[in-house]
Parts: sequence; structure tokens; C-alpha cells
Amino acid sequence: MSDKHEHEFEGFATRSIHGGFHGDEYGSVIPPIVQSSTYKFRNTDHGAQCFKDHTQGYIYTRLANPTIDVLERNVASLEGGADALACSTGIGAVNTLFFALLNAGDHIVMSESIYAPTRINIERHWSRFGVEFSFVDSSDADNIRAAMKPNTRMVFIETPANPAIAVTDIAAAAAIAHGNGCLLAVDNTVLSPVLQRPIEHGADIVVHSITKSLNGHSDVVGGIIVFAHKEHYKEVHHAWYHLGATMDPHQAWLVIRGLKTLELRVKQMQKSAKKIAKWLEKHPKVKRVHYLGLKSHPQRELNEKQASGPGSLMSFELKGGLEAGKAMMDAVRLCSLAVSLGGVDTLIQHPASMTHVGMTSEERQEAGIPDGMVRFSIGCETTADIIADLEQALARV
Ligand SMILES: Cc1ncc(COP(=O)(O)O)c(C=O)c1O
Repeated sequence: MSDKHEHEFEGFATRSIHGGFHGDEYGSVIPPIVQSSTYKFRNTDHGAQCFKDHTQGYIYTRLANPTIDVLERNVASLEGGADALACSTGIGAVNTLFFALLNAGDHIVMSESIYAPTRINIERHWSRFGVEFSFVDSSDADNIRAAMKPNTRMVFIETPANPAIAVTDIAAAAAIAHGNGCLLAVDNTVLSPVLQRPIEHGADIVVHSITKSLNGHSDVVGGIIVFAHKEHYKEVHHAWYHLGATMDPHQAWLVIRGLKTLELRVKQMQKSAKKIAKWLEKHPKVKRVHYLGLKSHPQRELNEKQASGPGSLMSFELKGGLEAGKAMMDAVRLCSLAVSLGGVDTLIQHPASMTHVGMTSEERQEAGIPDGMVRFSIGCETTADIIADLEQALARV
């Protein structure tokens, strides 16, 4: 409720710690968890006012909640947006956006290297309602341009996209989208607003899996949609609370706590990742490391143009292929063999035997995911301990 636009504090860390909370009647330093599903009206006139204009008071937590409002104001500020809508999951945020903005007969252009369920939702589900789509290698902006049609309503990219760590030029994608009268939405989950703020490069909408670095502690699932322009927020707002993939106050409160250390965590994880990537690159059992902080990454310069760092997500290929990948996964002790990314715990996974096991080896190869590829999200543990764990696990390969 009320205007969530907030740029009162200048520093990023200051805003991530204090942003969005305007105090309460108790003088709480930390925003309280308002764990109420519904709210009392002062009288029937007040109830009528609230239904006519949601800024006049809270009605029901699916529509708005004071704790969730704090989170939305905070993340909108960190991304440089006008407003935000919190969602129950990251994929809930993606689907809310499609539900609100795509109609039968509309066309969407999407990066082919994208979080798999985002692609699957368009391909299998939104297509049932008449949404047309093109998946393109968006690391070359000309492919986006070539895919545009008169009925294209949205360009949706994820940059960098994993596990291939492919980068899309946000400003170029925005220029193409706007030149064709449509919107650019960017999934900014991997780098977070600490390192990349797509709205500054022309994006209209940013989505996040809050589950990842925004919360940062692998203990919450959630999502958020940030809008550069209030008009798009208003367009999506109604559909958001009618679709119902909205957030819970306790979930929001945990993320508000996580956000306080966002910049510290992201920078520490990136510092560690830079050292680990260099170490891995020299290891005799490693064929190739895909990390935007290495000179060997072909899109390093493009990433530097639009982001202030390479982040802490990388993938590397083992010379021994599928069996080597499995052997390494079964040998790690400190790194957790688990999906997800961006948390303080280091997570490692082997797409060929885990997340992408449903594809054939040839299909994986075509998608840029060779059988020996390992995806690696570096956490906040002591760097030397992570390297020691990798060393002992690689010795068993
Ligand atoms: C880049 C990206 N976008 C969206 C999602 C979906 O988020 P969630 O798992 O919170 O629904 C994920 C989850 O892994 C992701 O990595």
C-alpha cells in the first residue's frame, strides 16, 4: 500500500539495511512480522474506502501486508525501480508476469539459455492459452532483432544465464524491445542488484528468485517483480493478487533480514569465487572453467559493460565426462551436493546426472551442458576450506 517508491538513502548497503521500514508505534528497530491474514475496518465507510483505494488501509494479506510492503519497498529501491510485487516463489513471479501481461495471440522472445521451468512454462503451458514464442541465442542481440514480430509483446532474458554462464546485452535488448513497442523483462537472479541493475540499462521489469542471493541463507523460497514504471506495476498488481502466488509475512521478514547483509555476502562470495576459478583453471583434471571473472570467458567484456562484477556462480568441465562428474559429486564433503545458488553455503551440482538427467547426452551437448560440466555456487565459507574440499574430491576422480 501507499507509494513504495523510496530513494531517501543514498548508499546501497544503507538502503538494504534500512530501506522500506518507516518505523512503528513501538519504536522497533526491525520491522515486525504482521502475521495477520485480515484487518479490521474502523467502520463500514472505512471498509468501503479501502476497497475503492487500497492505500486507505489494509484489507487482507493476499492484497497487501505491512511486512511484505517493507520488503517490496526495499527491493524496488535496490533495483532502482518505482515499485515491486513480492511472490511466493521465483517461478511464481515469472508466471504472474506472463499471466498479467500476455494475451492469446501475443508473442514472446526469450533467451534459449534460461532457467528451465521459465522456458517450460511458456512452451507447455502458456502456449495452451495461445501465447506464441521464439527462443533465441540472446548472447547475440541480432538474434533477438530477427525474432521480433508485429505481435511481440515482451522480450524476456536472463543474464548471466546458467549453467553455461551466457551473457545478454541488456541495453541492446532494451533498444530492440522498445523499438518494436514491447517490454524488456530481465531475470536478475544470478548477479543481484549489488552487481547489476537492469533498469539502469533500459529494462522495464526485473524478476528475481528471492530464494537465491537476496535471501541468501537457503532457508526461504520466494520471488519478486520490480517495475521501472508505475504504469506497469498498476497493470500487473490486480492480476498478481487474483492469481494468488503472493508472499507470506514470515517469508518476507526472513528475506528482510537476509537483505541486511546482501552486499557483504555477494562481495565476499565473489572474492572467493575469483580465487577458486583461477585455482580450478590450473587443475589437471579440469578441462575448462566458465566464469565471468576469468580472462578466458568470451563475454567478460560485455558483462563488465553492464555489471560491476562476475558474481559467484561458475561452471567447470571435467576431462573425464559423466563418470568424473558423478565421482566428484559423491566425494565432496564441505560443498553441499544440492541445487540452487547464491546462498552462504557453497552448493555444487552435476547437471548431467541431476537437473538435466531427463535430456539425452546429445541434447545436453547442444544446450551447452556437456556431461562433465559441474555447476558451482560459491558461498561464504573460508576460501581455503572450499579449495581443500575440491582438491580432495578431484583426487578421487
Ligand atoms: C535464474 C532463476 N530464475 C528463476 C528461478 C525460480 O525461482 P524459485 O525456485 O524461487 O521458484 C530460479 C531457481 O533456481 C533461477 O535460478
